[in-house]
Amino acid sequence: MTLGIVAALHEEVADLLAEMAPGAHVEHIGMRDYHVGKLHGHPCVIVLARIGKVAAAATTTALIHRFNVDEIVFTGLAGGLAHGLSVGDVVIADTLVQHDMDASPLFPRYEIPLLGRATFDTTPVLRDALAQAARDWLASEMTTQVSATLRAKFQMTAPRVHVGQIASGDRFVSSVQEVDRLRDALPAALAVEMEGAAVAQVCHEYDIPFAVMRTLSDAADDDAYVDFARFLREVASHYSHGVLRRFLMAKPA
Ligand code: ADE
Repeated sequence: MTLGIVAALHEEVADLLAEMAPGAHVEHIGMRDYHVGKLHGHPCVIVLARIGKVAAAATTTALIHRFNVDEIVFTGLAGGLAHGLSVGDVVIADTLVQHDMDASPLFPRYEIPLLGRATFDTTPVLRDALAQAARDWLASEMTTQVSATLRAKFQMTAPRVHVGQIASGDRFVSSVQEVDRLRDALPAALAVEMEGAAVAQVCHEYDIPFAVMRTLSDAADDDAYVDFARFLREVASHYSHGVLRRFLMAKPA
């Protein structure tokens, strides 16, 4: 059972890559490095997709075809959309939608043409296990791995785990107007990012179990660029490493 672990940027999986490095080897395909090795006894392939839906779809396809992965987990950052969410919260997708897909009037808004659907469900057993790992990590090790200074800086008082819809599109959302527009258009969406629904579409097409975990780095508002860059540099890798370590340790062989 091989697990594919995908992220958009190096900082999002730096600690996981370091942990897997001894004994791992790297295969370079299509301008990407696929790190093949073991994590906590589980065969894994870790890859940086780079940013955006095309990059994520191409990487996911290679993981399936060239590395025969049996399941895929995407980890990374997102902007918060729903009211009441905070930087440092974790969102685990139950469904994903491409918020910039619009082939209307030929097809209904958001529907993927000729696929007959707009939303993709994640695999319950994987998303439940990820959500549990995230809750466990937040309740135990998070405060030792993310310093009090950093938590204060990012106003992370009591980070929580949410399970709900994630919207993906080829746009970094960084204005209150766009947040309002997305909230009106997709009232169920909790968070916005740039890859998850593309991974979801490919996994649906190949019938590969998958899940998506996102840590909120910003509120997708006018300060999003600054907040995202700081959170990416200083906090992101702790979350991915901490949660996925717990996920892998609890995972049956
Ligand atoms: N990833 C993290 N923050 C984001 C935002 N505001 N928009 C799109 N993707 C993101």
